[in-house]
Amino acid sequence: MAKKKTTKQNTQSHQQLRVVIVGHVDHGKSTLIGRLLYDTGSLPEGKYEELQEICKRRGTDALEWSFVLDAFQAERDQAVTIDTTQIWFSTAMRDYVIIDAPGHREFLKNMVSGAAEADAAILVVDATEGVREQTKRHAYLLHLLGMQQVAVVVNKMDVAGHDPEVFEKVTKEVTEYLGSIGLSASHIVPISAREGDMIAGRSKNMDWYNGHNLIEVLDSFDLAMPPVARALRFPVQDVYRYGEKRIIVGRIETGILRKGDTVLFSPGNEEAIVTSIEVWPEDENKVEAHAGEVIGITLDERIFVERGHIGSHTKNPPMLSNVFRSNIFWLSHNPLKVGNSYKVRYGTHEAMVTVQSIDKVIDTNDLGEAEKSGEVGRNAVAEVTLRARDLLPVDPYTDNARLGRLVMYEDYDIAGGGMINMEGYADQRSSTTPKSENIYTVNYLVDQQMRAERNGHYGGVFWLTGLSGSGKSTLAMAVDKALFEKGLHTYVLDGDNVRHGLNADLGFSPEDRTENIRRVGEVAALQADSGLIVVSAFISPYRADRDRARVAAPAHFHEIYVSADLATCESRDPKGLYKKARAGEIAEFTGIDSPYEAPENPEMVVDTQSNDIETCVEQIVSYIEMQVKLKNQAANEQGKKEKALAV
Ligand code: ADX
Repeated sequence: MAKKKTTKQNTQSHQQLRVVIVGHVDHGKSTLIGRLLYDTGSLPEGKYEELQEICKRRGTDALEWSFVLDAFQAERDQAVTIDTTQIWFSTAMRDYVIIDAPGHREFLKNMVSGAAEADAAILVVDATEGVREQTKRHAYLLHLLGMQQVAVVVNKMDVAGHDPEVFEKVTKEVTEYLGSIGLSASHIVPISAREGDMIAGRSKNMDWYNGHNLIEVLDSFDLAMPPVARALRFPVQDVYRYGEKRIIVGRIETGILRKGDTVLFSPGNEEAIVTSIEVWPEDENKVEAHAGEVIGITLDERIFVERGHIGSHTKNPPMLSNVFRSNIFWLSHNPLKVGNSYKVRYGTHEAMVTVQSIDKVIDTNDLGEAEKSGEVGRNAVAEVTLRARDLLPVDPYTDNARLGRLVMYEDYDIAGGGMINMEGYADQRSSTTPKSENIYTVNYLVDQQMRAERNGHYGGVFWLTGLSGSGKSTLAMAVDKALFEKGLHTYVLDGDNVRHGLNADLGFSPEDRTENIRRVGEVAALQADSGLIVVSAFISPYRADRDRARVAAPAHFHEIYVSADLATCESRDPKGLYKKARAGEIAEFTGIDSPYEAPENPEMVVDTQSNDIETCVEQIVSYIEMQVKLKNQAANEQGKKEKALAV
């Protein structure tokens, strides 16, 4: 093997701390970088002289440290690989790499995409200006990226007369803002980047400050350790075939994988046993691989695995969902809008998603909710709900910071990024995975047509969905009565009723609601199959759950959207539950702090907001009568009509 070069890039690759420097424009980031390099003796040979020369030429008295960065910038702009866009410095303790400082065109994009994944951040705040717009925005971005190690430097203390009161004031302001977004600075250091105060040494002008200087603070940060203790996540990068052998290649993002482990691949939802762990150079004794390692594995069975699938242990796999929320930082010039589709990428997984709703646009300035405009503009932060066509393997950010971070693309360009949040949504794995094996279907001897002919009509599922208070139960009961009086065989499955019996073990968490609808969907399908007209009245807030109920009764399912907006339902509040929910006495109340996904293409919409109950009941009754009519009866009627027309 070739001898390793003794450049820092090579020898220190396991010992670098990656730092990102952020802050408002002109608060001194570039100067700080120049100074960090100089004060730690890390300027490349000749750079200092070059700097003196430039300053002389430009006629500045004091050394402009930011020129150091300008010189790098010129090189960076020509650079092709990511490595050369990085700036290095070292302390007695270890090496540092400053990744992608602001000013670089792609800075925010690189931050958001993880190309500039940092272990620690320095937030630069001008002592004379305090917290400004970009201070807040960048801090918010650090929060979105889950940055744990943050140092704040209060810069330009020389301009502020080295005044401890100024430092106190800015410290208070920064601490308050960071606290309000759930970020905390481990240290706040008064510095003068220009003068080199409190960078690598101390400052005689600020003897009132007893804390660490910036270098000491950086040295106190931890190197990011590979997250081995977490659940296994092995995103598949590629599947190679060597003759009969199939090697699944990827990087273990978290956890540990051992030869002999049963690995489950999502979203395919198939599992197999790891027969070997392949590494380069070859090592037959390799039986275990940890987070951070790039490996190949072979399996004992030919299950379906492709790029983008995520390997995990069977216990603690990623969630499966076709809908999730994301807290995003939007970077594109084109605003994000409801209904727009984007490619998202997390780990090695890519999928197209559509924006289902923009739930909140956050004004990073005052952290209030920005005015609702139905879109998210450039540099704005928002909470959105995204929907994919198929089930995706997802890890919420809080469970897995690596895979829970997503990047959004517009064509090939990074348009935004943020973290995945499953709040309000259920893991759909259990509802899509049957537990039992060796089960067979037994055929009935009485078929649906025979039952229908005896009943005088077909069965069917008429699925009412809508917010609490929209009128589902009232309509269902009235429809049931009207049909019964006409001699039809009907029955109502109602949320509140079923929750007293069959579903008494279920609450209102996303998982419980999903299970509630799964069971009811299956019961309704059985009843419809037996010939009954089933009218169901459940909020059934998730599209995916209603879609599954449809799959349970494919020939007979009719989705009826009982439409009334939240304000109307809340003003009706028949059970006083909205009031309780607003008072915080009921958690996860639909429409308040739990989502409701209105149907996209229901068979029928009844508008209880503009129409009275009788009208809506009539509409539903005549719709149901049409749908359940026997075929020969329908044909007879058609024949009669045609005859009448011909006469
Ligand atoms: S669903 O979401 O799982 O479909 P379901 O229709 O069974 O709900 O039950 C809804 C009824 O339960 C509401 O009409 C209301 O009376 C009651 N309820 C109690 N707590 C909640 C809650 N957190 N969210 C919605 N409804 C609730």
